[in-house]
Amino acid sequence: MLAVRYEQYGGPDVLRLVEVPDPEPGPGQVRVDLRAASVIPGDWKVRAGHLKEYFPISFPKIPGRDGAGVVTKLGPDVDYITVGTSVCVVAQHVEPGTYAQAIVRDRESITPLPRNLGFDEGAALIHAGVCAWICLVETAELRSGMRVLVQGGAGAIGGLAVQLARHLGAHVAATCRAENAAYVRGLGADQVVAYDRGDFAEELKDFDVVLDLIGGDVHRRSYPVLKRNGHMVCLIAAPFENRAAEFGVRVTTPRINDHRQALDFVAGLAARGALKPQICARMELAQAAEAQRRLEQGLVTRGRIILQIPPTGAAA
Ligand SMILES: NC(=O)c1ccc[n+]([C@@H]2O[C@H](COP(=O)([O-])OP(=O)(O)OC[C@H]3O[C@@H](n4cnc5c(N)ncnc54)[C@H](OP(=O)(O)O)[C@@H]3O)[C@@H](O)[C@H]2O)c1
Repeated sequence: MLAVRYEQYGGPDVLRLVEVPDPEPGPGQVRVDLRAASVIPGDWKVRAGHLKEYFPISFPKIPGRDGAGVVTKLGPDVDYITVGTSVCVVAQHVEPGTYAQAIVRDRESITPLPRNLGFDEGAALIHAGVCAWICLVETAELRSGMRVLVQGGAGAIGGLAVQLARHLGAHVAATCRAENAAYVRGLGADQVVAYDRGDFAEELKDFDVVLDLIGGDVHRRSYPVLKRNGHMVCLIAAPFENRAAEFGVRVTTPRINDHRQALDFVAGLAARGALKPQICARMELAQAAEAQRRLEQGLVTRGRIILQIPPTGAAA
């Protein structure tokens, strides 16, 4: 099969499209022929060597944290799915990833692709949706009537977080650049502050939850937005100064453990139309390096870049 992989840390040019052996499912596992993979910030940060302490990868490494495709082979003792089922999959950074024509997964890391979604949308949905779910539902316990600020509402996770918070009945504020304000309102935000026009810290007060997907100065200035005993939920790789004691709030950095229950909840919400995954651009698998370069340069907005993967046997 074809896969994109790298043999050392470095810039996007270390990514190569190569022929590798087909993966074989072991006991309890299935082989999924992938048709789409999403390109996420963690993919380039791991490739660049920025997250070595958290994700001790081995080389050669196939990147890709999520994707979608069709189950084509069952390993021994698999009775939970049948050949031909379309699925969304997740893989951890330390495992062989989804920039490939096939992957082997177990029951915990797949969920049926919602019937109303194509493979590209399934890939755009699953990891980003699970991140939003873990942050807002499992960590912040967001409920109807609560007030949440999503820092980064035009991003892949932010866009799904806005939709999820709206679905839960919360009052939703979000930040984005001015040209994305109407887009983010369209996802369900009640209030939008454009970070290139206004100052969210002046406009927003008394929030129960801030979901920080940005970090840095945005993180530092987000504390006064929270009520006393409010909850700052951070999904950022860079270190930050924890000001919880100064402001009387809670700060949590959840671990993204994409377990089956979260995958199923997210896919279920998408099947009901409550979550609509957002796609910024579609590219070919062979363009993975260019896709990661765009992401690294901050040129990706309004959802994921999706790598479209040719079926086994077709030319890339
Ligand atoms: N720790 C973990 O396990 C974990 C897991 C998943 C993700 N993450 C992190 O979560 C973050 C978000 O991931 P993602 O996939 O959603 O990223 P993404 O789609 O690449 O997000 C990009 C968005 O960030 C927005 N943005 C940039 N600067 C901003 C600012 N000052 N204020 C508000 N918005 C701003 C941009 O909005 P505009 O387009 O409007 O400019 C852009 O749409 C990343 O840093 C990622 O590494 C961490």
